[in-house]
Amino acid sequence: MERKEFIKTCGFACLGGTLIGAILEGCGSSKIITANIDHSDMVVPAMAFQDNGSFKKHVVVQNPALKYPICVYRFSETQYTALLMRCTHQGAELQVFGDRLECPAHGSQFSNTGLVKNGPADANLRTFPVTIKNDQLLISLK
Ligand code: FES
Repeated sequence: MERKEFIKTCGFACLGGTLIGAILEGCGSSKIITANIDHSDMVVPAMAFQDNGSFKKHVVVQNPALKYPICVYRFSETQYTALLMRCTHQGAELQVFGDRLECPAHGSQFSNTGLVKNGPADANLRTFPVTIKNDQLLISLK
């Protein structure tokens, strides 16, 4: 194999690996649950994060009363963030890719705490306070 052909082959192999990685990360099984709303709190069982002896990093929570789902990240037994999956640029619904959320419309990216990482969005995501009571997360929607 000639040098030029070798480089070309390696380049395609690397590109293929990167694409497959990105696709797998995107498919990375976001667990989606429908949660009840009690008064102004969305109620999510803490066990929703359990995953065969370990814990999921995030769970997507929805309810028919909400236009956008909420992505809840678990950092520890007592630390969670709840992020509205609405892009602050023009309101498209975000997608979860591991520890970040991405906008399919124009590519904005947000961290797992809701901070803008890449524009065109220039405002952080809406967050909701989370309290824990009786093994349930109460996400305040006020
Ligand atoms: S609507 Fe999300 S980047 Fe434009």
